[in-house]
Amino acid sequence: MCGIVAYAGPNQAFDFLIKGLQRLEYRGYDSAGIALLNGDLNIYKQKGKVQDLLDETSGKNIEGTTGIGHTRWATHGEPNKVNAHPHLSQSGDIAVIHNGIIENYATIKEALVKRGHTFLSDTDTEVLIHLIEDIKQHEDVDLFEAVRLALNEVIGAYAIVIISKDDPGTIIGARKGSPLVIGIGKDKKEYFMASDATPIVEYTRDVIYLDDNEIAHIKDSELTIKTIDNVEKTPYIQKLEVTLEAIEKGGYDHFMLKEIYEQPKSIYDSMRGRFNQTDLTFAMRSLREYESKIKNLNRIIIVGCGTSWHAGLVGEYLIEEFARLPVEVEYASEFRYRDPVITEDDLVIAISQSGETADTLAALEMAKEKGATIYGICNVVGSSIPRMTDAGAYTHAGPEIGVASTKAFTAQVTVLTLIALGIADIRGKISKDRLREIFAELEVLPTKVQEVLDTCSEKVIEIAKRYKDVDHCLYLGRGINFPVALEGALKLKEISYIHAEGYPAAEMKHGPIALIDENMPVVVVAPKRGYYEKVLSNIQEVKARKGNIISIVTHGDEKVAGLSDYFVEIPDTEDCLVPILATIPMQLLSYHMAVMRGCNVDQPRNLAKSVTVE
Ligand code: AGP
Ligand code: GLU
Repeated sequence: MCGIVAYAGPNQAFDFLIKGLQRLEYRGYDSAGIALLNGDLNIYKQKGKVQDLLDETSGKNIEGTTGIGHTRWATHGEPNKVNAHPHLSQSGDIAVIHNGIIENYATIKEALVKRGHTFLSDTDTEVLIHLIEDIKQHEDVDLFEAVRLALNEVIGAYAIVIISKDDPGTIIGARKGSPLVIGIGKDKKEYFMASDATPIVEYTRDVIYLDDNEIAHIKDSELTIKTIDNVEKTPYIQKLEVTLEAIEKGGYDHFMLKEIYEQPKSIYDSMRGRFNQTDLTFAMRSLREYESKIKNLNRIIIVGCGTSWHAGLVGEYLIEEFARLPVEVEYASEFRYRDPVITEDDLVIAISQSGETADTLAALEMAKEKGATIYGICNVVGSSIPRMTDAGAYTHAGPEIGVASTKAFTAQVTVLTLIALGIADIRGKISKDRLREIFAELEVLPTKVQEVLDTCSEKVIEIAKRYKDVDHCLYLGRGINFPVALEGALKLKEISYIHAEGYPAAEMKHGPIALIDENMPVVVVAPKRGYYEKVLSNIQEVKARKGNIISIVTHGDEKVAGLSDYFVEIPDTEDCLVPILATIPMQLLSYHMAVMRGCNVDQPRNLAKSVTVE
């Protein structure tokens, strides 16, 4: 996501735009830009933070009472000055800022190039503003109508604001899938637009939350709202009651909690446009471009650290199950120093939310030097790892501010699922019927994630209250859910400072069971799928030693639930997707226990969001 702001009124726009972007910087911060109208359309853009833009504009006499601003979280095109927003139309007379993804931008761009359009950036956004001007010119319609017609051709998500040299005092905003708030200033003489209310709240508390498929037209201090089907809507003005800080966190107490609850959307976004359930095909360019390499692969090595390493372990189960290809998962910090045997028939996949983890970068560099094909699964577009890999797939989870990784993990596992299925498809190891079954579950996965979030919170808070003062905790899982146990333990220890360990459930009897007593809570991932009966036996082994069982069970399960001191239910799904659903109660459990222990959840002691040192 990114942050967008706009102003039209009697006052100079610059201060509102810059301050607004600073308020929205938590939404995206790889580059920033503004555009203002004062007879001409003047545009200022810079790579980096809003402060870098401010430095760029210092000393310049920037005037204009109509303007737009953008702080970017890149999805298409590296974070640099050229790809920063605002973007201009072919003539340079119309400017746009955009939050979201235009999925069919490539098709539209191809048609516009044939009509003589030239593009300066690699973004999907620039295509949209060229389309709008192309329609305005060829259909001979006004700017609003051109925007409306263009949005009827667009597939994807957007919150956009447009200004034009020929329309001073006019701003046009539209949304579908990304938020856009309109602030109504004093005497309805000035108007503000922004991705959320943080830039607006100090100027007015009268706001309108635009709905999907609505277009707001502010012209000569008059506001009209129409749908993209040209139906006029009566603006519904609400009073803003929340504080600035609360708005930034979307009303949640911490970024971590907000990011846990963003997972239905971030998981959807990580899949968006990457597979087609109708013709059972994949639309992942990185797989398509390396199809011949994938057919001849001997092995896949996955490297990562922390949570990303756990995602890699899930990936191992997925790729070996579906693609029948040997997979090794390595701690990047170990891999980089042990001079491993790597050949040109190896594919090395690095997983990293930040794309900047020093150990993972170093491991990749070594693999590249040894001739392997290197692939990145990252969340931050244009970060170091995507810039050095031969191919890759972004997780599109949006900025993850909380140090404890949550939505990035489930997005990584979702992308790994698609990669495993895609490789299996290329190597002819999976039937179309099996693909259809799994695609069907992927389609409803965001809904099932929402169901877990809606139903498990109360129970998790009860469990957190019961065990918040323990000193130790064990997490158990079998098969593809063993890495989930590791991830659950990492979440708990890194934000609540409770010692926690994850184990393969069967491993208990080889030592850890000596730890079990009435003070030891044991969290067990026990879906009514593979290994169910064996996990049941492990639970009975723990119970026999007075251990406390907290189980994550398939909805409606009675056997495991009946043996548990506490249980949380998750919907049934394919085995390969259980890790995504099972992780969520664990994220919430660690969050609530940490909060009850008075820990700094978003910035736990001793930790950093990205470990860019060895
Ligand atoms: C996870 O909650 C931690 N913040 C940490 O283990 C993290 O996963 C690890 O440092 C790797 O970071 P990366 O994904 O940005 O490479
Ligand atoms: N897709 C646009 C880009 O990559 C906007 C990304 C965003 O929402 O931050 O520039």
